[in-house]
Amino acid sequence: MPADTAIRPRRLKPITIELLIIVLLSGATCYWLMFIRATNSGLTFENKLLIPNQLFGTVVDGRRQFHLTVAEGSREFLPGKQTPTAGVNGPFLGPTVRLHRGEDVDLTVQNNLDEITTMHWHGMHVPARMDGTPHQKIEPGESWTASFQVNQQAAPLWYHPHPHGTTGRQVYRGVAGLMWIDDNNSDALALPKTYGVDDIPLVLQDRLFDNDGAFRFVRNQGAVFGNTMLINGTYNPFLQVESRRIRFRLLNGSNARIYYIGFDDSRVFHQIATDGGFLETPLQTNRVILAPGERAEILVDLSDGTEVVLKSYPEAGFLRTITSFFWGIGTGNLQLLKIVPQPAKRASHALPDRLNTIPRIDASHAAKTRPMVLAGPRQGGRGGRGQGVQGGRGGRGGRGQGVQSGRGGRRGQGVQDGQGGRGGRGGRGGRGGPPINGKIMDMARIDEVVRLGDIEIWEVHNRGGQPHPFHVHLVQFQIIDRNGQPATGADLGWKDTVLVPPGDLVRIIMPFERYADPQVPYMYHCHIMEHEDNGMMGQFLVVEEPEQLSLITGKTTVVTFITGVQCEHCYEHARLFDEVLQENDINLVIITPESEPDQERVAALSSSLISDTAGKWAGWFGMAHTGPAHGTILLDATGEIVWTSTGSEPYMDVHNLVNRAKNLPDR
Ligand code: C2O
Ligand code: CU
Ligand code: CU
Repeated sequence: MPADTAIRPRRLKPITIELLIIVLLSGATCYWLMFIRATNSGLTFENKLLIPNQLFGTVVDGRRQFHLTVAEGSREFLPGKQTPTAGVNGPFLGPTVRLHRGEDVDLTVQNNLDEITTMHWHGMHVPARMDGTPHQKIEPGESWTASFQVNQQAAPLWYHPHPHGTTGRQVYRGVAGLMWIDDNNSDALALPKTYGVDDIPLVLQDRLFDNDGAFRFVRNQGAVFGNTMLINGTYNPFLQVESRRIRFRLLNGSNARIYYIGFDDSRVFHQIATDGGFLETPLQTNRVILAPGERAEILVDLSDGTEVVLKSYPEAGFLRTITSFFWGIGTGNLQLLKIVPQPAKRASHALPDRLNTIPRIDASHAAKTRPMVLAGPRQGGRGGRGQGVQGGRGGRGGRGQGVQSGRGGRRGQGVQDGQGGRGGRGGRGGRGGPPINGKIMDMARIDEVVRLGDIEIWEVHNRGGQPHPFHVHLVQFQIIDRNGQPATGADLGWKDTVLVPPGDLVRIIMPFERYADPQVPYMYHCHIMEHEDNGMMGQFLVVEEPEQLSLITGKTTVVTFITGVQCEHCYEHARLFDEVLQENDINLVIITPESEPDQERVAALSSSLISDTAGKWAGWFGMAHTGPAHGTILLDATGEIVWTSTGSEPYMDVHNLVNRAKNLPDR
């Protein structure tokens, strides 16, 4: 040992110097790549910025009706080259849909693609059936109508397809558009409002082109990045505006790239709105960070008459991602749009003092706090399906869900995980992108159940190595804090998408005021579209408490969902459970979707049987949303779920269940 120690200093020295050289060289390479790989400095700004048409719809019987047709097309982006595309009411992107708060609207979407699509109104408060998620498929050649009342404040929303697994491809081809809401407040505010003149939509998208002009859809670090910017579908764009204060409404409509937006002279501007509406007061800044799905409205004073270029700057490290340097997937050094001021014909708008009132939601009013762990360890692989939970019994066929988190992030999960994790636990667990709470999206699984009317806090914790923009459907939320630091600046605005850098914990708070549906879920997901398409997504239901819920409290209870007493094997299962559980003094509640179950059969059961035609019980426990299914759950005396089984066959091992029930601590 002493001999070794004597040698060490002599050997270490040259190695240290070599290491230092390597570190310096790679540092320089990083810097070089950062500018080379994601830069487009050769732009000449020759093409007039395209401004999407506006769509105001037509009022029929008091309802404002819109028609959106999704179809393939082609467009010349690069000089002399036709690019095959897809768009809405045109070859690429879609019209700006203008809505006013309080109106009843019908949006009809005709799918003329040769594949399934859906249309999601990103940021809109709508019933789950109108949300355009993977559950509202539109088959090729078919149409679908979303009907709802516009019931939220003025905001710069957008729409895009949401078919499971192909959202990224469809948006990349061009299917997306803006959806702007006005209300009495926005009507009254003295802001620039002349569309395309002083109120300019800017949809930012990066694309890769093949030599023949076709879009290339290739993954780089798990997502699709481009080196060519399209602004409203315009390559190499310029915009002439009057030299006065101009409003830009920015949407990051890219699949994966995050932009760090400012002007090339670093001039100061004001951010006035976030995803879900106006900030309280204009926020002075010279940069806005915008992740996929996020929006920002800014006011820029161009009265000095000088040309400026809107660009995306290399971010200075706050996204804490090393790979972005190497692969050109960072915020880059990208020119977006040259703005050419012309003599003003009108006086400039003054900067408003006040834009909105945003009452802070009091965190102490939250009924529940849910963890949302992004890109953490995978739970039990994809094998969550199958009958993992059923302990000693295997291979019952059908597809149950091994692991059910049940209502409200209850902590009974340890028990279920212990049963469900056979195979692949803790490993990478097969295909799929980064998980949320250890799980990859499964359209047949409800991940969270929210009670209508509750305020909730979600703790979004990014445990991976790259930034993830986390989006929640249905609501606009407030950011409470980032890593314990209370929200400031633009984080004080209403948001539906929040960028969470690696390692960060962002707490968001939101009210679930409207639209219970015990059967159709909403989504939450990463808005990097390839992450979303790879399953970095979960589903939540918003439900009302079912009547007679008191039947389950105060006692260990088994709730079993059957397809009907009319069904022979269901009835056999109900009879067996009725008899054995009663003998063991365990409460049983049987739920049937039948409105008038056969009275003779019901009379032969001594347990409570509830006719749940609306599916409220199933919804409350996050089950059976895809139609009649069999499910059995065990609840402890406090009403917590401690065990779940679902599948296409009724669970028959009542003795196993009795043993579980008897082993519960508080029995
Ligand atoms: Cu912008 Cu679930 O989407
Ligand atoms: Cu992500
Ligand atoms: Cu059955």
